[in-house]
Amino acid sequence: MRTIGIIGSGQVGGALARLAVASGHRVVVSNSRGPETLADLVAELGPGARAATPEEAARACDLAFVAVPVRAYPDLPAAALRDRTVVDAINYDPARHGHVPGLVGTTSELVQAHLAGSRVVKACNNIFFGSLLALARPSGAPDRSALPVAGDDAGARAEVIAFLDAIGYDAVDAGPLAEGWRWQPGTPAHLVHAGATVREAVPAGVERVRAALAAATR
Ligand SMILES: NC(=O)c1ccc[n+]([C@@H]2O[C@H](COP(=O)([O-])OP(=O)(O)OC[C@H]3O[C@@H](n4cnc5c(N)ncnc54)[C@H](OP(=O)(O)O)[C@@H]3O)[C@@H](O)[C@H]2O)c1
Repeated sequence: MRTIGIIGSGQVGGALARLAVASGHRVVVSNSRGPETLADLVAELGPGARAATPEEAARACDLAFVAVPVRAYPDLPAAALRDRTVVDAINYDPARHGHVPGLVGTTSELVQAHLAGSRVVKACNNIFFGSLLALARPSGAPDRSALPVAGDDAGARAEVIAFLDAIGYDAVDAGPLAEGWRWQPGTPAHLVHAGATVREAVPAGVERVRAALAAATR
């Protein structure tokens, strides 16, 4: 059992918390407004969950997820996240979010620069939160989906791949963080699990995800 710290416990952070608890992990959820505003989510998650501030969640966890709006990345508690693997689920769509100061390369590289003492792994960005819940399957299921994973530390990538396996997903190891552009908004891999409507989820396994990553153009 691991303790998963979730910074940003909205749609995608909440879905990750549900999957983590369902697979037997403890979770510490956090947001910007304070732990008391997460009482309903904690009650739903049950005894394996508690709410805290982002800094407390970071210190309490042995694997962190950040699922905040891209402009909030400078608020991530770098000192408290030091020496931890941090999964970055943040998306950046210039048409929606405008220019992010300091952005050169991918947003995950920007997050890694801010969290210089952490091992940042980009994952869970290319799946709608409802699909993330709907498509989770036990290991070996024929319609199990895969999620791409990128990070500069191979051990951290392996750690995240093992966690994804526990919550119901295969993974495609895409290599270093700089490869994360392959599933940014607008790429084939960003929509690989999307159905005809936003609520419809389509399973996409390792081979489909690999092909979608390979089809990306800058
Ligand atoms: N929605 C999806 O299906 C989906 C899928 C993949 C990736 N993503 C990406 O995941 C991120 C979150 O998206 P979402 O749809 O889950 O958003 P959301 O429902 O609006 O949740 C955002 C969460 O971030 C928290 N937050 C905002 N500023 C913060 C700060 N400075 N410190 C700590 N927490 C902060 C919010 O807390 P408060 O409410 O207290 O401010 C809220 O809990 C975005 O980057 C998005 O692009 C979303």
